[in-house]
Amino acid sequence: MSEAPLFSDRPINVCVTGAAGQIAYSLLPLIAGGKVFGPQQLVSLRLLEIESALPVLQGVVMELEDCAFPLLHSIFTTSDAKEAFRSCDVAVLLGAFPRKQGMERKDLLEKNAGIFKEQGEALNSEADANVRVIVVGNPANTNAYILKHFAPKIPEHNITALTRLDQNRAVSLVARKLGVPLSKVSDVYIWGNHSSTQYPDIFHGSVEGKGKLSDLLDKRYLEETFIPTIQKRGAAVIAARKMSSAMSAANAVADHLHDWLLGSDRIVSMSVPSDGSYGIERGTIFSFPVRVSRGGRYEIVKGLELDEFSKRYIKVTADELYSEKAEALALLS
Ligand code: NAD
Ligand code: LMR
Repeated sequence: MSEAPLFSDRPINVCVTGAAGQIAYSLLPLIAGGKVFGPQQLVSLRLLEIESALPVLQGVVMELEDCAFPLLHSIFTTSDAKEAFRSCDVAVLLGAFPRKQGMERKDLLEKNAGIFKEQGEALNSEADANVRVIVVGNPANTNAYILKHFAPKIPEHNITALTRLDQNRAVSLVARKLGVPLSKVSDVYIWGNHSSTQYPDIFHGSVEGKGKLSDLLDKRYLEETFIPTIQKRGAAVIAARKMSSAMSAANAVADHLHDWLLGSDRIVSMSVPSDGSYGIERGTIFSFPVRVSRGGRYEIVKGLELDEFSKRYIKVTADELYSEKAEALALLS
């Protein structure tokens, strides 16, 4: 895939919210260093924080300056969402409260829903009409749904949420279990919600030179170990670090944006508005396997065969998203 700049005549305007937080601290060097938008694309950063975190954000800005990234054209900081989103091409929405040990991500809905309502409205009035959005703040899928609801001018197709972290976790676990190089494992997909109901699906996957994953991993291992490990990985990181994942989350955001904007030969997992595929209610922000092509286009992969085992898991995660959607709309009405 071509790493040529997306905009050869100007920097790409990238807004990052929650810019003084943990994930941003790992993500900003990847964006400014060229890993996300390619080694030739100039970047202008528009960093949003709440007022009380602006002094900390100034420290992050100093560090970005001290990295001397040749591609970093400018940095703008603000606590005003409208200013932050003005003319932005890409919006990375990290700004939200993280969960603590013992919580489910959906327990954050009440705390975080208002942020995504306000930011949806601000994006709607200020961002480039073609802005590409990735929601990371939890519960990511339902926050993206809220954002979409309050940003009717933005093509719904352009609003996505992060499940690439779950895909990366799943591919890594498969490679470690089978003792094969990670690069040889392909087509492990994430369906549904970025939550403990998500369905990491190996049934379309393979290991180059070794065959289909469904012949290499038995259903007992999948049900008792693989699926629950991926579903609960975020909680395991919180239990160990006493803080939620940040380095791996930032890395996954970089992967998501890189592949979405510059394209990839591989099928990747992204949470996107359902077009009704696989019986998922239209508009639900649901993780599907997608084909991405340069310029921020993607298509949900159609016609994959799903057996009863997979259908059962997909129904559970879809039902959870429908009830989160209803709860969110009730909260905000
Ligand atoms: P953090 O607490 O370190 O940083 C969040 C930052 O957001 C803080 O600096 C806070 O001041 C800021 N913020 C709060 N409200 C804001 C607002 N209205 N506008 C702008 N900024 C605001 O948290 P973190 O570890 O960086 O995680 C951020 C979010 O990402 C959390 O909700 C976390 O659960 C989620 N997360 C999602 C995934 C995923 O795969 N989808 C992975 C990891 C973390
Ligand atoms: C993760 O998956 O690591 C994040 O969503 C953080 C969390 O709350 O689990």
